[in-house]
Amino acid sequence: MPINHQSSINNLNISMSSPDLADADRQAVLEVLQTPNLSMGPRILEFEQAFRDFSSRKYAIGVSSGTAGLHLCVRAAGIGAGDYVITTPFSFVASANVLLFENAVPVFVDVDPRTGNINPELVADAAKNIRRYLPRCLPPATRHTSHASLKAILPVDVFGQPADLDPIREVAQEHDLKVIEDSCEALGAEYKGRKAGTLGEYGVYAFYPNKQITTGEGGVIVTDDDAAADFMRALRNQGRAVGDTWLQHTYLGYNYRLDEMSAALGTAQMTRLDELLKKREQVAAWYAERLAEMPEVETQVVEPFTTRMSWFVYVARFERRIDRDSLAKTLEARGVPARPYFAPIHLQPYMVERFGYQPGDFPVTEDLGARGLALPFSGVMSEAQVEHVCQTLRAVLRGR
Ligand SMILES: Cc1ncc(COP(=O)(O)O)c(C=O)c1O
Repeated sequence: MPINHQSSINNLNISMSSPDLADADRQAVLEVLQTPNLSMGPRILEFEQAFRDFSSRKYAIGVSSGTAGLHLCVRAAGIGAGDYVITTPFSFVASANVLLFENAVPVFVDVDPRTGNINPELVADAAKNIRRYLPRCLPPATRHTSHASLKAILPVDVFGQPADLDPIREVAQEHDLKVIEDSCEALGAEYKGRKAGTLGEYGVYAFYPNKQITTGEGGVIVTDDDAAADFMRALRNQGRAVGDTWLQHTYLGYNYRLDEMSAALGTAQMTRLDELLKKREQVAAWYAERLAEMPEVETQVVEPFTTRMSWFVYVARFERRIDRDSLAKTLEARGVPARPYFAPIHLQPYMVERFGYQPGDFPVTEDLGARGLALPFSGVMSEAQVEHVCQTLRAVLRGR
């Protein structure tokens, strides 16, 4: 009997991602709306406390997005025009954009083909031989600046798996570099028993609705650095330093504040973090079981040093002979959304224009970017939905 795809879509209603909200989460937001404090009230303090408890770091600073958090870390690390930061082109654009905001230069190195995380050997080599790794063109704002120097490493915990941080930290120590850990995709992940986001000087988590917990929009920075924490708090709030009045602005700052409704939602979600992660683990396991039977599909490799994977997305990689983009279109037409993930950062038009990158510059990143497809994924997916996605995928791969 032919499958009636339209009716199964309606029954199964498969979306790319979905937040996992409980009545208590909704209630927490409604309670804020019974009060006059919609910004800079008690809820942001509670939310930050939850992150201090979670991370065992001295400071947690709630911000309006993961991008805002990363940008504040870049400022706190003293990264400015012409400075170099070693980072990965296999990421969401924000991790490199925050460097461009300060006219710093992202010095890309390629990634591990197994995990998509930054390759620590290349990080070490780039730190020793930085000139060899610089982009083809350096824009005028950054060219020949006498103070140009290598300042930091910005690894990304890709898809919820921590980057291999021990060797990266060794390079950082040897060359006196800060480590800004982009853990926007990895809340709750663990590296050799240590929490992702706590492995560098600064770590950042993000809470867009597809993330492990959500605040709508939002992020948190965690750090042990007293001076940096004060500075980032000030920059978050229009540059008002400790002791400044409402109209005193010691620094050039931003409005990167997280409002009270978002913070309340985040605190409520954090009380369920373990449950939320376990549900995502289950969905990932359902996928892994079914995709293992499809020889043309590679699934996520979880490294032995990853003592806990925090599933953010479920990315399947297809054999090179398969036209990934037309596969995505066909799936979409049959009610199963799927997205290429990631698109290499160095080949985004503004990056090409600014730095002269070309296809072939980072072959592993480009290969992963060309073969990966994020499948529908969230903690609220049922086994029947995963089954439907996999059945549809199987049928399309078999030309049915
Ligand atoms: C690796 C990475 N870095 C940074 C961000 C930025 O987070 P936000 O969207 O909250 O600004 C994201 C968001 O998806 C991300 O995946």
